[in-house]
Amino acid sequence: MINKEIKEILDKIVGDLYQDIKIPDFVVEWPKQKDFGDYALNVAMVLAKELKKSPMEIAREIMEKIKAEKGSEDLFKNITIANPGFINFEISDKYLTENLNRILKRKCKSGSSEMGKGKTVVIDYSAPNIAKPMHVGHLRSTIIGQSLYNIYSFLGYKVIGDNHIGDWGTQFGKLIYAYKNWGDKKKISKSPIEEMTKLYVRFHKESEVNENLEELARKETKRLQDKNAENIKLWKFLVKESLKDYNKIYKTLNVKFDLVLGESSYDDMLSGIVNNGLEKKIASKSEGAIVINLDKYNLSPFLIQKTDGAFLYTTTDIATAKYREEKLKADKVLYVVANEQALHFQKLFASSELLGICENVEIDHIKFGMVLGESGKKFSTRKGDTVRLNDLIRRAIEFAGKAVEEKNPKLSRSEKKKIAKTVGIGAIKYNDLSQNRLTDITFDWDKMLSFEGNSAPYLQYTYARINSLIGKFKNLYKLDRINPFEKTNFDLLKEKEEISLMRHLIKFPEAIENSARENGPHLVALYIYELASLYNSYYNSVQIVSDEKQITKARVTLSKSVSITIRNGLSLLGIDVLDRM
Ligand code: ARG
Repeated sequence: MINKEIKEILDKIVGDLYQDIKIPDFVVEWPKQKDFGDYALNVAMVLAKELKKSPMEIAREIMEKIKAEKGSEDLFKNITIANPGFINFEISDKYLTENLNRILKRKCKSGSSEMGKGKTVVIDYSAPNIAKPMHVGHLRSTIIGQSLYNIYSFLGYKVIGDNHIGDWGTQFGKLIYAYKNWGDKKKISKSPIEEMTKLYVRFHKESEVNENLEELARKETKRLQDKNAENIKLWKFLVKESLKDYNKIYKTLNVKFDLVLGESSYDDMLSGIVNNGLEKKIASKSEGAIVINLDKYNLSPFLIQKTDGAFLYTTTDIATAKYREEKLKADKVLYVVANEQALHFQKLFASSELLGICENVEIDHIKFGMVLGESGKKFSTRKGDTVRLNDLIRRAIEFAGKAVEEKNPKLSRSEKKKIAKTVGIGAIKYNDLSQNRLTDITFDWDKMLSFEGNSAPYLQYTYARINSLIGKFKNLYKLDRINPFEKTNFDLLKEKEEISLMRHLIKFPEAIENSARENGPHLVALYIYELASLYNSYYNSVQIVSDEKQITKARVTLSKSVSITIRNGLSLLGIDVLDRM
């Protein structure tokens, strides 16, 4: 990776130049303005105090030394200095064209690296609560989690995707009671979540007039926790049926998990967790309940066992962290869960630290903002209900269908259908992933489905456009049977738009690593959006396919490496491309 190559050379040069002092950490970064070159270095400013020299003077010294270094012209075309002491680099043409060959050669793997080799990261995402519809918060978790999964895998990590479903807890008593009295197996199998929701609603309605119901439900919960065979069987059935519904959504969104270890999986560990906490004097009794005191962290206590002896979400999460450390051998655990649970995770991480769990594991709450309706308030239907994900997805596909119809009415019906699905789902994902995850998002359908501007269809369209260009080129020069991109003479690429594209292409691997470092898929999105924008201005100002074969070949091959990069970038976001649309 180019930024690392530069850093290596600079570490050596700066070390040689200033042997008497300890060199502080400095960075090779992307300059704010492209006119300043491809990379900028702040080392002169960092050293100024220590060396008691002006940063400009130091910058000049370093620049001269780099220029004198053997082989530096292979990497750099131009090195300049700028106020107050930046050293700016322009990357050599040789490097830029070698990079094109590398992209063409690596194809699907272009941009990937071995950064995470030998390291395991567990990603906790989606995690809906059984018998309840998945809401838009779960949708965000699902989309962001899957994208992080893709990004980390691409960087060579061993990734374990774990769906920590809410499959345990008091709600099951109510549901089991309701099912035993009013349930219908067939109806549930047909539309699981819908029927279970109805049962739940009925339970609450009837318990308003019948005071005994809550108590009866508690008994069912107790029976379930005591592993009563009938209740266990019913519970398993309800979990299985709910998963059937969720899996439909996962399939549509192309989301996968390696493990589905719900809260119930940790049941056997819970009393051990609490006892261990008590023994270590980390946990203590407080008014009959058991809590972990977190004064030291300026946090309120973490309640891990209620007065009636019941364990909680908190207890399960401590067990889960332990499991991921010991059994899954995680080096890193990412919890992709809404902002609302920030306090829970602060307390969880503090408690784990006190208990000596995950001491050498990097644990991180990957928070994200809310989904807002057009009014800027919570996202809901006109009647005020929460929006069903199925409806949302259906709507996206329908709107995308209309947009495709307008754009390209001549396509066959089945092709239109396929495009509508790919575009609609791509739009939902991109709308989420292209923004910093901490911001609240809205569903602005016009913007999401626009073929111009920062949207999935725009990127997909750019990809399809390049694909059709390649077809045109092959046709014109009758190149069907041979690899049309081989032995291209990239020195023919002299237009400023071509150079801009090549300069942007070298930064793809970095964009991916940055996005993993910040757990922010938006950095990949931003990168490909910029690439597509550069490409489209190229397309609009330079004639790519012409009757000059060699130059056409060079331009089309450049286009091909752009399309590979767009495709790989989108695939990290979980978004598919289309050959035409
Ligand atoms: N089921 C929870 C909810 O819907 C999310 C679980 C997140 N994962 C975790 N390990 N706590 O709010």
